[in-house]
Amino acid sequence: MCGIVAYIGEQDAYPIIINGLKRLEYRGYDSAGIALQNGSLNIFKKKGKVKELIDYTQGKNTSGTSGIGHTRWATHGKPDDVNAHPHVSGNGRLTLVHNGIIENYSLIKKALEKEGHVFATETDTEVLVHLIEEVQKRDNLPIEEAVREALTNVVGAYAIVVMDREDPDKLVGARKASPLVIGIGDDGFFMASDGTPIVEHTKKVIYLDDEQIAVVKRSGEYEVRSIDNVLHTPFVQELNMEIGRMEKGGYDYFMLKEINEQPTTIADAMRGRLNAKEGWVRLGGMDDHVELIKSAERFIILGCGTSWHAGLIAEYLFEDLARIPVEVEYASEFRYRNPVITNRDVVIAISQSGETADTYAALELAKQNGAFLYGIVNAVGSSIARLTDAGSYIHAGPEIGVASTKAFTGQVTLLTLMALQIGRERGTISDEYFLTLLKELEAIPGKVEQMLASNEKIKYIAGEIKHSTNALYLGRGYNFPVALEGALKLKEISYIHAEGYPAAEMKHGPIALIDENMPVIIIATNKSLNDKIISNIQEVKARKGMVLAIVTEGDDEISKIADYTIEIPETAEPFTPLLSVIPLQLLSYHIAVMRGCNVDQPRNLAKSVTVE
Ligand code: G6P
Repeated sequence: MCGIVAYIGEQDAYPIIINGLKRLEYRGYDSAGIALQNGSLNIFKKKGKVKELIDYTQGKNTSGTSGIGHTRWATHGKPDDVNAHPHVSGNGRLTLVHNGIIENYSLIKKALEKEGHVFATETDTEVLVHLIEEVQKRDNLPIEEAVREALTNVVGAYAIVVMDREDPDKLVGARKASPLVIGIGDDGFFMASDGTPIVEHTKKVIYLDDEQIAVVKRSGEYEVRSIDNVLHTPFVQELNMEIGRMEKGGYDYFMLKEINEQPTTIADAMRGRLNAKEGWVRLGGMDDHVELIKSAERFIILGCGTSWHAGLIAEYLFEDLARIPVEVEYASEFRYRNPVITNRDVVIAISQSGETADTYAALELAKQNGAFLYGIVNAVGSSIARLTDAGSYIHAGPEIGVASTKAFTGQVTLLTLMALQIGRERGTISDEYFLTLLKELEAIPGKVEQMLASNEKIKYIAGEIKHSTNALYLGRGYNFPVALEGALKLKEISYIHAEGYPAAEMKHGPIALIDENMPVIIIATNKSLNDKIISNIQEVKARKGMVLAIVTEGDDEISKIADYTIEIPETAEPFTPLLSVIPLQLLSYHIAVMRGCNVDQPRNLAKSVTVE
């Protein structure tokens, strides 16, 4: 939530920051702003997307070789021009951009008001910049010292960059529980919420750790200290990102591009980790921990949103293939409910961004209680990737559409590999079944490709559903979580109310909603439960509901009774989610486009949820 970009060096800061903000728009897009320094200080802020900010700055003085920028997802204070960042100190000397939440801001605000501070906005961020100003004035401190001192009084999460008009040759950045990356260029420094605004300028980066403060100077020097003033030698690493993967590449929306990338991203998730011919599967991240993981008493899987759905599929996979008991928890619930955690638990965190605040906090809790933490993460170097004891990246590349697609299938692929490896180690899968599964899994990217060929048919069906106000998604077994994910995709981007249910639960409530206006999307690919699903379809049809069934190819029985069917290629039952989710992603996409929605940036949502 919220994206930060900053630059100091020899180049013009405006284009660097604006282009960077465009890359970070997935983190929030209700207002944007920029502050530029070049002798004088110019600040431009606008409600709406970065495009609005660009239009607003046309013809204005945007010169300057240092500056800070921000794209916002509002927490405190409505999205408008005034509440947009950067925020300015009372004396006009300091400007600051912030991602996170200052939890004790109202206490600090009251204390500052007593000192005579007057606030122009409703934001917690303005309180922080006034606090830094107060500390700086009181003790006559250089900006980096004032930031450090002020942050010792702050409770909450922050990534900030601060600029001091009277000390124009440096920028100060700091982080706690919200990400901040520093790029070291040939002629300047960059700071950003992730590497995407930096990669086109430099690949040399430092990921700041929690409670670290960095000073970068126009002269080329930099320094990192902890909040308790200990000097650190930061680890400079290579940013592993390709610019091409951050462009739309001819597609109308990133979401459509990302859906279509899945044959490649699933293959990338498996690359070097599976060989059906030689009969092995191996996740490098488990190498030093196989004994510990395979003898875990229990797996606890933590995630939010789509990642939580991937976790639900993993519950079926681990129990089915590795015979390990699994609990799947919403990270936000887990962290606040005094859960029982022991050092015999393995906690698996699933996160695309690696920055989700609830998942991070839940992991910290598990760590304090002695559990071993394993991460299934997309964003390399992210906070969750660094907090976990071990883990595997899904290698899906940047996912920019707010609705997760390729990250979901990447997560499910990794969790499948993990279940297969652990099952093999524990002797819970027979040799024959293991080899069959490996072959089937290797064939999945090709079958996903085949699924994508149903696009036109799905588009047609989308046209039949687009005016609905509600939709019901049903699935059983491995495909119950897919029903949840299908419903989430639809509501996220098309704003149609949708619910996912285990198919058999329909008769315990949702059936009351079914009439001719209610499309019911049934994932009916589990051969073992086909008879039962057919009964569910009959029950919907008897109440005049419209049925779209996702079936395995050649399933004529369901095709005869459903209004529409989409076929998935035959595969082993544990892998059906990787295929059945594809038409559901496309269906939501087309419905949203037909309803005129902004697919990549749905209202009120953001991709990287770094606040509670
Ligand atoms: C947000 C995103 C979802 C994502 C969820 C968890 O709600 O819009 O797409 O599934 O956060 O994010 P994570 O990065 O932890 O997977």
